[in-house]
Parts: sequence; C-alpha cells; structure tokens
Amino acid sequence: MVQQAGADKSLEREFDVVLFGATGFTGKLVAEYLYQTYGTNGTLKWAMAGRSQQKLEAVAAGLADTKVSPVPLIVVDSSDEDAVTQLARRTRVICTTVGPYALYGTPVVAACAANGTHYCDLTGEVQWMYQVIHEYQTSAENSGARIVHTCGFDSIPSDLGVFFVQQQMFARHGVYADQVRFRVAKADGGMSGGTVASLMNMMEEVKADPAIGDVIDDPYALNPRNMPQGPDGPDQVAAMYDTKFQQWTAPFVMAAINTRVVRRSNALLDFRYGQQFRYDEAILTGSGPLGYMKAAAVASGSFLVMLASAISPLRSMLTSVLPAQGEGPSEETIKRGSFVIELLAEHPTDASKNLRGRITADRDPGYGATAKMLGESAVSLAFDPVDVGGGFWTPSTALGEALINRLQASAGMTFDIID
Ligand SMILES: NC(=O)c1ccc[n+]([C@@H]2O[C@H](COP(=O)([O-])OP(=O)(O)OC[C@H]3O[C@@H](n4cnc5c(N)ncnc54)[C@H](OP(=O)(O)O)[C@@H]3O)[C@@H](O)[C@H]2O)c1
Repeated sequence: MVQQAGADKSLEREFDVVLFGATGFTGKLVAEYLYQTYGTNGTLKWAMAGRSQQKLEAVAAGLADTKVSPVPLIVVDSSDEDAVTQLARRTRVICTTVGPYALYGTPVVAACAANGTHYCDLTGEVQWMYQVIHEYQTSAENSGARIVHTCGFDSIPSDLGVFFVQQQMFARHGVYADQVRFRVAKADGGMSGGTVASLMNMMEEVKADPAIGDVIDDPYALNPRNMPQGPDGPDQVAAMYDTKFQQWTAPFVMAAINTRVVRRSNALLDFRYGQQFRYDEAILTGSGPLGYMKAAAVASGSFLVMLASAISPLRSMLTSVLPAQGEGPSEETIKRGSFVIELLAEHPTDASKNLRGRITADRDPGYGATAKMLGESAVSLAFDPVDVGGGFWTPSTALGEALINRLQASAGMTFDIID
C-alpha cells in the first residue's frame, strides 16, 4: 500500500531517504518494509545503497518481479569518504544499517553532520555514540542535520514508551512521573550476525582501551557533558523480586543501551521529568518459585555470555556457534515473533495515580519490528515537521509523537494505557 508521507520539503534533494546497508540481514528487511509500505511511485523518493552492485541487484530482484530495479541503486563503500559525502548530498535522510557502527559508521555520521543530511541508525554501541556525539555535535548543529541513533528495538520502545507514559501522566495529572519502570513481558525472536559482530567488537575495544569500559558502565554515559546526572546506579544483574509488578525479574541485556538513551532524552528536554527522575529495565519472569528459577537462569545465562565474550579464546568459540554476518533468524521466526512491553509510571506523590502503559509489536523485536521502526524513523525525519534543529537527538526528542503515530498507523505497533 502506498501511503502519503507528509509535507515538510524544506530541504530539496534527489532522494528523501537512502537506505545504506540494504544488502545486510536487517537492511533487506527495511528495504522490504519501505517497498511494501511506500512503493516507488508515491511521495517517498528513496534509493538503496551498499558496497556491492551485484548484491544490491539481488535485493532489488527480491522486491519486485522485474528485470529493472524498482528502486535506484547506489554503490558506496563507507570507507570512501568522498563517495559517502556525495551520497549525503543527494538525499535528505540516510537511514543506515551498515554495522558494526564503531567500525564502519563514523564516515556516514560525519558526512551527514557536515552536509545537513538527517540520519538514523540501529546502533546499540554506547561507546561509539559517546564518541561521535562529542565529535560531530557542533557540525550537526551548524548544518541543521538531525542525527538520531538507536531507532530499533533498542531503543524505540524504551524511549518512546517513556515519552508516551509521561505525556499521558501530564495530560491526566499535570505532573510528570518521577520514576518509570520498563518491563519486558514477552519478546520472541532471534539474533543476527551483525548484532553478534557489534557486541564482539565492543568487547575488543574495551580490551584495547579499558577507559571504554568506564563509558559503557556509566549510567549517564550519553548525557551531554557538563549537565547534572541523576540518582540511577548500575543496571540490574541478578534475579530480583519486583513488588510493583508482583513478579520476579531478570536482567535485560538491552538495558545497558536503552537506559542511557532515556536518560539522555530527559537531559535534552532540560530535565522535563526532573533531575531526580529514575528509570530502569528488566524482564518479567513470573511469580513463585518458577518465576525465581527463570529469573536466576536468565541472569546466569547473561553473565556467562558476557564473560565468554570478554575472554578472547572463549569469544572465538562463542562467535563460531552464533550467526555469521549476513545471517539472522528465519522468516518464520520473524513473522511469528512479537513483543510486549509494560511500563509503570509512578506519580511523584500519589500512588493511586500511577499509570501502566503497554507497547506491543506484531513481529520479532530485533528484526521484523526493528525494520519497521527504522523505516518509519527515516520517513518521519524526512517529512514530519519538528521543533528541534540540528544536533544529536534521541528518537523521542527528535520524532516523539509523530513517530508514535506512524508506528501505530503503519508498523503494527500499539501504545496504550492499560490501567
Ligand atoms: N538496535 C537494534 O535493535 C538492532 C537490530 C538489528 C540490527 N542492529 C544492528 O544493525 C547492524 C547491522 O546488523 P545486521 O545483522 O543487518 O548486519 P549484516 O547482515 O552484517 O549487515 C551489515 C551491512 O553493512 C554492510 N557493510 C559492511 N561494511 C561496509 C562498508 N565498508 N561499506 C558499505 N557497507 C558495508 C554490509 O554489506 P555487504 O552485504 O556487502 O557485506 C551489509 O549490508 C549491526 O550493527 C547490528 O548490531 C541493531
């Protein structure tokens, strides 16, 4: 179905959106989503880019049964800075799945920041975001480029989820919650080789420079420098009983990314939710002894995987049994997958006014749903009127309600208050 994308055309360029990395596992899913949702003759002018013409043609052939690619194809290697600059000048938005971002992403961010090209990606590499935010913030402010990392399962449900429950709290009670708890009630899916490679590269970087480990461990790593921090400490690492949800909880591996993004959003909003705002994430595992056993098993499993990925010989063994780059969950796993997130927003003075939010998606979190979230983020950056200028934003501060509306209208996601 071809949808009308919107009206803000302040930056006239050949394309509205270029999907860079269209030949990768997640990139192909984004290409399919854009093709099925926006077609090629509608208001969205988009192209696919990658480093191999042959692979791009194969992706194009998978989209439509025609010998001529339905979507323009552009060959660019991210290590060729001139070519990346030319690419950035042809489009209003680059939407990139070229990762690990710490290895291949910096020239793309630099070119977008320098050329006023809006940008979105799927990175979960906190150490890399920390680096590029500080290096290119001024350039993006000057050019007007809005740079938005973490537009997938990490960290859209977290960041837009908090934005949503806080909006609802303010609309109903005239105040913002001083604490939000994010709980994964269900997440069925798998993992791709690109995600494994990003995690392993992060571990290599920490080994080479332990200061990077300090950045990753800092709960406020992504807050702008010289801004006050807040009361949150380290992420949950063990099984814990949550009295508010009356269930056992396990550590959620994505919390190490998502919590930093949500806290950055609060800082970018001049601490709209207060300087004492608290935020944490965990997985719900049920009540009683079984709930405890599941929580303890997830906690031990996560610990062992992190330990194995931190020790070189074990890292090689782990990598050999996990998906290789270009591979990921089966079509069946993606289609049958889904996720349900519950959020508890706590009223600062009256617990009877607490709100429970729920976010759902109709595909697996990391790939099917992520591809839609990234695709809609790119379209939103291209078309939706916003009141922020250039710089490094988060999904909620750059796209907020416009993106929630798009995700609910086109991407099979729901955002509700359930209690
Ligand atoms: N946040 C989330 O929820 C989430 C979800 C999914 C993925 N991710 C992240 O997204 C990234 C991609 O994951 P994936 O599984 O799709 O990886 P993948 O299958 O390995 O795809 C990587 C893509 O990058 C391209 N590429 C690599 N080096 C390049 C270069 N120098 N120039 C141009 N293109 C280059 C590859 O091109 P070739 O095809 O030519 O090799 C491929 O298209 C990873 O960083 C992953 O962690 C995040």
